[in-house]
Amino acid sequence: MAADISRRHWLKNATVLSTGLGSLALGGKTFAHSENSLASTDPLSEPAEQYIRLFYNENPYGPPAGALAKVMEVANRGNRYATFATYDFDVLRAKIAAEEGLTKDHVLLGHGSFQPIIWLAQHFLQKGGEIIVPSPTFDIVGMYARKLNAKTRAIEVNEKMEMNLVEMEKAVTDQTTLVCVCHPNNPTGTLVDPSQMNDFCETVSKKAPVLVDEAYIQYTDAVPNWRDASMVKQIKAGNNVIISRTFSKIYAMAGFRVGYLLGQPDLIKSLTDRFTLGFPGNMPNTLSVAAAIGALEDTTFVDQSKQKNAAAKAIFYQQLEKLDLPYIPTQANFLYFKVPNFPVFKQLMNDKKILLAGGWPSKPDWARVTFGKPEEMRVFYEVLKAEKWR
Ligand SMILES: Cc1ncc(COP(=O)(O)O)c(C=O)c1O
Repeated sequence: MAADISRRHWLKNATVLSTGLGSLALGGKTFAHSENSLASTDPLSEPAEQYIRLFYNENPYGPPAGALAKVMEVANRGNRYATFATYDFDVLRAKIAAEEGLTKDHVLLGHGSFQPIIWLAQHFLQKGGEIIVPSPTFDIVGMYARKLNAKTRAIEVNEKMEMNLVEMEKAVTDQTTLVCVCHPNNPTGTLVDPSQMNDFCETVSKKAPVLVDEAYIQYTDAVPNWRDASMVKQIKAGNNVIISRTFSKIYAMAGFRVGYLLGQPDLIKSLTDRFTLGFPGNMPNTLSVAAAIGALEDTTFVDQSKQKNAAAKAIFYQQLEKLDLPYIPTQANFLYFKVPNFPVFKQLMNDKKILLAGGWPSKPDWARVTFGKPEEMRVFYEVLKAEKWR
């Protein structure tokens, strides 16, 4: 079993404590974008990719055709803010809400999920106190807090590389102003059992607001329907839980910059009033709103992406097992695995124009590789098999 093999190896090597986004293996300056259906039919498209991008957890198969069709349709309205009957911010909010069984008053749009997460952090950090974050994770709240010299408490993942909810709950005090979890977690790819996460949210949200980052939730195969793994039920129950989601991952629209928060309407209203001042200026642009509406209407794209992801995952596991490299079974579109010497490994990959991430401070020799297209992965595996970095 993959899980057993990987566990056997990495348990030996678990180390402790740190935060940060890890080091991205950036090898070059600009990254031409030509691997999508729009670019491939566009005579003005940029030259072929210079790099194999396995570092930002992008979905290489997009953007969805439904999104691109809407972009084409609305492009000549780029002179206007996205306040049209059919491509309005509120149309998108209502569509998102309908999918979740919520109202549009539960939805706050932003430039990717990054921007509204930072808004949320700012909102709660002004109250002082301390925020609690897992480690390692995609720690933008912790990073932002540290920039403001605000207090953060990072709780290291447990021996299964899952967020340590027991320790996180113990860390909550009456000084805690925000608790952050990532479900599934980036970079480890682990998903805490949804019922445990639900209990955690239920208990902890009575003491402090809980942000659940669900950037990769659609990729999970831990439950037959990914929606059952989501913490939206906590919002429906009226609890002090906020969910962040994005069109950047399974929807393959990272460059369009659309994401959103789901939360209680009073909080969403406070954030909207405070950060948009009620104007469309600090909201996604017209093309992005149209693209997101088109993506939600494209009923096949997410399922197809998920199938391709599952195929890539199976091959990746096999490759790592052949090479006897420990890895963590993933619930997302990337894999976390241990290499003997990450800096050397990263350099070799960069030299071959392959970009990847890893080296989070508490896990210095763990690499995170996003699943690319089969032809990209073949190049990656060739380099991976090279002995010289070991
Ligand atoms: C867990 C997680 N949350 C949020 C983001 C932010 O992405 P975006 O701003 O594109 O939605 C990322 C990006 O990699 C991520 O991994």
